Amino acid sequence: MKHFIKTALLTATLGLSIAALPAQADETSDNAKVQTREHMMAGIGGAMGTLGCYMKGECDLPKGVVHLLAEGIAYSASTGPAVFKDQTPDATHKTTASADIWTDWDNFADHFPKLQENALKLAEVAGDKSAMGPIMGEMGKLCKDCHDDYRTK
Ligand code: HEC
Repeated sequence: MKHFIKTALLTATLGLSIAALPAQADETSDNAKVQTREHMMAGIGGAMGTLGCYMKGECDLPKGVVHLLAEGIAYSASTGPAVFKDQTPDATHKTTASADIWTDWDNFADHFPKLQENALKLAEVAGDKSAMGPIMGEMGKLCKDCHDDYRTK
């Protein structure tokens, strides 16, 4: 009898943990994916914010730093398709990514090479504010276009 109870308990515990495992694993890995793409975007946002400060003359940065900030945006943009590839239905971490990203994948993913190209153009003229101005303007538009279509409020 004792043995039977032990076995029954063990089976119940095992059954529970096996049933609980996949859900937990999906939630954990989906949360990590959401955070990865948010960190990538926040990096782009930080670089863009510093460049904006530089353009307004509020921060004085060496040309080399401006160049690296622009290149950093290009590198981050190049990770976009890989970072956003998987939809994250089990995430409990708050996300503003719209489900349209995955139903409209080609159009969504196509924004990243455009941003990358634009950021490399910016890096080429780093330090020349009059040449940087229009490219920064285009960059802001590229961010906004994608956010308007693929972010929930
Ligand atoms: C290809 C589309 C796309 C482009 C281009 C894009 N973003 Fe995003 N961005 C997103 C999506 C989608 C999210 C929401 C991610 C989430 O919440 O899971 C986001 C989130 C963000 C966030 C919030 C990150 C956080 O911590 O939650 C910032 C900041 C940001 N983007 C800045 C920018 C800037 C600046 C640019 C342009 C230089 C840009 N993005 C270009 C799609 C894009």
